Amino acid sequence: MPDRKTRIRRAVSRTALAPLAALPKRLARVARHDAKVLRQSARWLVTSREHHNYTYDLTPLNREHLAWFVSLVAEAPVADVRGWMAEIDADDVLRAHIEQTTAKSARRGLADKQVRYARRVGWYALVRARKPRHVVETGVDKGLGTCVLAAALLRNTAEGHPGRVTSLDINPEAGYLAKALPWAGVVDLVIGDSITALNALDRPVDMFLHDSDHSAGHEQREFTAVEPHLSERALLLTDNVTITTVLLKHAEKTGRRFLAFREQPKEHWYPGDGIGAAWR
Ligand SMILES: C[S@@+](CC[C@H](N)C(=O)[O-])C[C@H]1O[C@@H](n2cnc3c(N)ncnc32)[C@H](O)[C@@H]1O
Repeated sequence: MPDRKTRIRRAVSRTALAPLAALPKRLARVARHDAKVLRQSARWLVTSREHHNYTYDLTPLNREHLAWFVSLVAEAPVADVRGWMAEIDADDVLRAHIEQTTAKSARRGLADKQVRYARRVGWYALVRARKPRHVVETGVDKGLGTCVLAAALLRNTAEGHPGRVTSLDINPEAGYLAKALPWAGVVDLVIGDSITALNALDRPVDMFLHDSDHSAGHEQREFTAVEPHLSERALLLTDNVTITTVLLKHAEKTGRRFLAFREQPKEHWYPGDGIGAAWR
């Protein structure tokens, strides 16, 4: 026979008073969660200088999810994917280049010293796995993603699978991280509107990454513009997958498979972005 307290609790839980009785417990739980976000936000306000395109690391569990995501999309053994993810982490030459170039750049006041790639580690592993001859990235900003893609292409080239990345941005100041050798050796930086540049592409695209104007309309126009330039087994990626349904609808319309990965940033208030992938 349950004790008196338990009997009262059970009786209350069957009445209209139940939500009120549970309020203190519910309040404590949500307060604990919100306090954590507030602590992270306050720490970020004093330690970070970034005002957009935030950088952060991913939680260890989230990185493991990313490895399995890449493994499935690229049809590569997950152990190989983990190896490629470790490879970019261990690339001290690239890390030092980004740190030093950031420290000297005119925009250093709006960039963090620490180099954190987040989902770009997944982009790296996808390039290492699929060995594309031509990658197109729309939206360059400082050039962090461009450097990561270039580093993967340089490794592929050294292993006998050459490739280049065409990186498009409307801002003439974009891409300053990707202007040094050896990375610049495989990068073609094009300044201008992405739709115009995509229409003018003159060689097949094996991997396409949308990361420019994140409005659904622009994202859709990019996938439409790049479609006639895609090679048969091209991989389409979007940075917008947590916001729009553009790529999943495009995948369905064009007979491709679709999968989404969602970031879980480590010790950061930002809820994260993701990688959407469509492929045949
Ligand atoms: C989110 S940032 C790109 C981030 C970058 N891929 C990275 O890995 O850090 C978006 C960039 O898209 C560019 N952009 C916005 N509209 C554009 C357009 N219509 N055509 C080309 N680039 C555009 C912006 O100038 C900005 O640098």
